[in-house]
This record gives sequence, structure tokens and C-alpha cells, in this order.
Amino acid sequence: MAVAKRTFDVVVVGAGGAGMRAALQLAQAGLKVAVLSKVFPTRSHTVAAQGGIAASLGNVNEDNWHWHMYDTVKGSDYLGDQDAIEFMCRAAPEVVYELEHFGMPFDRLDSGKIYQRPFGGHMQDYGKIPVQRACAAADRTGHALLHTLYQQNVKANTHFFIEWMALDLIRDAEGDVLGVTAMEIETGEVMIFHARATLFATGGAGRIFQSSTNAYINTGDGLGMAARAGIPLEDMEFFQFHPTGVYGAGVLITEGVRGEGGYLVNKDGERFMPKYAPNAQDLASRDVVSRAMTIEINEGRGCGKHGDHVMLKLDHLGEDVIKQRLPGIREIALKFAHVDPAKQAIPVVPTAHYMMGGIPTNYHGQVVVPYHTGEEVVQGLYAVGECACVSVHGANRLGCNSLLDLIVFGRAAGRQIIEDLQRHPHPKPLPAHAGDLSMSRLARLESQKTGERVSEVGEAMRRNMQKHCGVFRFPDLLSEGVTKIKEISERVSQTVIQDKSRVFNTARIEALELDNLIEVAQATMIAAEARKESRGAHARDDYPDRDDVNWLKHSLYFSADRRLDYKPVRLKPLTVDSFPLKARVY
Ligand code: FUM
Repeated sequence: MAVAKRTFDVVVVGAGGAGMRAALQLAQAGLKVAVLSKVFPTRSHTVAAQGGIAASLGNVNEDNWHWHMYDTVKGSDYLGDQDAIEFMCRAAPEVVYELEHFGMPFDRLDSGKIYQRPFGGHMQDYGKIPVQRACAAADRTGHALLHTLYQQNVKANTHFFIEWMALDLIRDAEGDVLGVTAMEIETGEVMIFHARATLFATGGAGRIFQSSTNAYINTGDGLGMAARAGIPLEDMEFFQFHPTGVYGAGVLITEGVRGEGGYLVNKDGERFMPKYAPNAQDLASRDVVSRAMTIEINEGRGCGKHGDHVMLKLDHLGEDVIKQRLPGIREIALKFAHVDPAKQAIPVVPTAHYMMGGIPTNYHGQVVVPYHTGEEVVQGLYAVGECACVSVHGANRLGCNSLLDLIVFGRAAGRQIIEDLQRHPHPKPLPAHAGDLSMSRLARLESQKTGERVSEVGEAMRRNMQKHCGVFRFPDLLSEGVTKIKEISERVSQTVIQDKSRVFNTARIEALELDNLIEVAQATMIAAEARKESRGAHARDDYPDRDDVNWLKHSLYFSADRRLDYKPVRLKPLTVDSFPLKARVY
């Protein structure tokens, strides 16, 4: 069946911070840029980022990018690639000032400089004492950032395709990427976006879990498309649980609350973090805090009638600080936990938050895949932000390094694309089969008459991931989880849409999203079962220690045969000495 086509220089999939920062770079260079987004751009999930963006501005205490780099390497449990980490931490002050000049409304110190607050794992002088490095716009930093970038893109004439969902990558016989197929959500119309460069900035996939801080749109669409097109996924076993999701609702309570002086207590009112992290205490890195909370709960010191959460206390900060620095948290606590944080503690529990793994890239945003004994760049394909694995976060991301990652690598990918397109001024022709995969996926959905509902199978996947691949991972649960997720993937291919006539195509979109989620869930489960050590967010009960002899390596998951391969960590930075491996204590 013939599919309509439009041609652009670049198609960007996703309008969060990374996609919009890249699009801005490209549109300002005079390129014709299409940005596809399932939602209105300023509703992309970056909007939910609260606490800040990390940069060693040193506005409150002395700071420099070497210390930021050290914290990031240590935070990653040494799995992060040190060349990419240096690239990011060095660029941080510059990209933050760039945002300021784009008009981003940061909070201010009395001196007029950008306000910075403490955050987990941000330390002075190579891990000695906490430093204020998180540049904040109250507790709505992502919101401020996204609006700023959207306005700049409108000014630069970026073409937005709003409420369009990308379906599949288009690759030719040589493996080069020539664009994507996409569907307009309202009408169901499918179109080919033919482009000389395709950039994925599709965000995370927290929706593989039952309890997640992620928006419903975070369905791993870029990863699903990459996996179906034969591109491996890197380090998928590392999924971060944020310590403070609202108990029962999953909504994020920023680490900035602890940065402003809040702390966690158990059912006895005991402030327990000093036991687990004597130096950083409540501002230890997220994996450490989430594990400590889980131990408190498992050992019977959890709160509430089921003893299954702990409390975040901030009433001592006073109403003025809460209203000025944490207004969004006050609102969330009132609406979702029904408590006034100026008077009562907020019930919280570790909640799936961030995917450290993703589509393998270098620090120019180019997608790189194994080739014979080395790696090669996939021509025409780039990935940035949470859907990519650069890897700057390794086994555990530090708070506020995600917004930084979006902006640094969004800009870097934009620059790389501009350079690459100068060498490739003409688009390659589309292959005859360009729209076939998407059309056959849609035809399957239309023709399937019996089967399980998408929602039922999706629920089975989320329950499986929550039970078998959580904060602590147990050998029998992991292997059972692998068997089950493979069975669930068979069920995904047999789902039926019972309400085809429904407006807005909701049922179809949910089915297409589940195709992507199940790729991510399988990669996560299989890679987690295979990694026989504990590192960062991957904490195994049967292998409690980090094992640098056998496991200091990145995993690569290949969807076609559910195979795993491994590649070395890049321990050598760009210009400075490597940070040597050592035990990680906070
Ligand atoms: O806690 C937070 O505000 C989340 C920030 C982040 O994930 O970087």
C-alpha cells in the first residue's frame, strides 16, 4: 500500500529537552527540521524534572568540573565511560549559561547569580563534603527548561508534528537510516518522514514497571524501534529507583527536598540514613538511599498499617522555605498524599524513575554498533537523552545529571548532524519496502479478532517487572522473571483491540506502545539475570559485591535472538587522568 511521504533534512523524534535542544541547533543552522511528538511539546516528560540541572558554577561554594566528573564516575559505580563524562561535566557551565541567555527563569541568589542547591552525590574536593551544584528554577526546573526551548524553537522555525507517534525506523540495504514511519494519533494516517538524519530523543521507559515516576507516554518508543531494526540495547539491567516517590501514587518528590534539609525517618521516628551513609547521609546517591529504605521496610521498620513505606520529613524547614523553594512539592503532597508538608511528613517509597541503559552512542550522539572486532557508526541515526546510552550514568545516575545530559548531548548531536550533512548533501533514495513493517503491524491489529486485551497483557508485564526486577534482585525471581517475560512477549503479539472505533485512536496507540515496552522489559530482565554482580542500581542478593574482574563491562542486548554480548568500559578520559576504581562509600 502506498504511504504518503514528506521530506526533511532532519527528523527528530521526541520533543523533550534533548530533542528540542538538538532541533534548535539544527533549525538555527538553517536546516529543515521536523520534530514529532506524541504530546504537545511542553508536556513532554522533561516537564516533570524538578530539582535542577547540575553544573559546577560555584555560585554558592567553590566547585569545578573535575569534582563534578569525579562524583559522576563514582556515582556510576565506575561503569560510566570517562571520556563522555569528562565531555559532559566540562560543558556543563557553558550550556547552563546558554539556557540562561535563551531566557530560562532560574531562581536567583541575593547576588543575582543562579541559585544552586545541594543534591545527592554532589560533593566538593573529590567526595569530601556536599556542594551546592544543582541550578534550580524552584522545584520546576524541567518545566522552565522545556518552555524556554519550545519558545526558541518556534522562533527558529522548527516544524512541530504534534500528536504524532513514530512507528518504525527505515533502513536501506546498507543499513543506513533514512527516516521513520509515523502515525497521526487523531486520524490514524501513516506517513513516511524521509530525512538525511534521524535523531531519537524519545525519553525513558519507566512504564515497564507498575510503580513509576514516569509519565504514561514513557513507553520506550525509540528503543523499541531500534531493537526491531536490529540495533542492540546497552546496559539495560540498570534501572534507577528514585528514593522518594509518593507512596501509592508514584509521583516524584524531588531529591531537592533533602537538598533543602529534609530527611527520611522510619516508623520509630529514627533518622536512618546516617547508619548507611555516615558522610552524605540523606544525600547519598539514589541507589544507596533506595536500598537503605528497602532494608528498613524489610526489617520491619516501615511505616503505615502495612509497614511498607517510610516518611520524608520537611516540616522543620518552615512554611516560607517550602512555599518559596518547593511550591510544586507542597502541591503534590497535598493532592497525592493528602498531607500539608509544613505540618506532616510525606509517605514515600523507592519508585522506578530512570533507565541508565539505552541505544548505544558516542558523545557526538552517533549510534554505534559492534562490527567485527570494533564498532561502527550507523549512518543517518543519532540518539540523545534517556533513550541513549552514552554512557555517562553507568550503573547509577546522579540527580540533575539527566537535564544536563539532555542539553549537552542534544547540542553535541545537533553539531555532529550539521557536520555530517555537509558531507551528505543529498538524501539517499527510499527502499521500496519503506513503509511495509509499520503497515503490517497495523494490519495485524486490524485483523486480529480474538485474543487478550492490550491492557491485560500490559498489566502482566508491569507486575512481572515490579516483582522480579526491583531494588533488590534475587536469583530465583530473576530466572522466573525471564521465563515469564518471554511468555508475555508471545501474548503481546496476539492482543486484540476491542474498541477500534474509539476516537483518538487510544487503543491502537496503546497496542503500538506495548510493542515497544515489551522490547525494553525483555532486555532489562534478561540482562539483569545475566549480570552476576552488584553494581549501582543492580543489587543482587546472591552476588552482593561489585566484581571488576569479570563484570567491568557494558552489556549489549540483541532483540532478534535475545542474545547478550559485552563491550569494554572506556576508562580513559579525554584530557585528564582516569579515576581509578575504588570501593564506593558515601
Ligand atoms: O529528584 C529530582 O528532582 C529528580 C531529578 C533527577 O532525576 O535528576
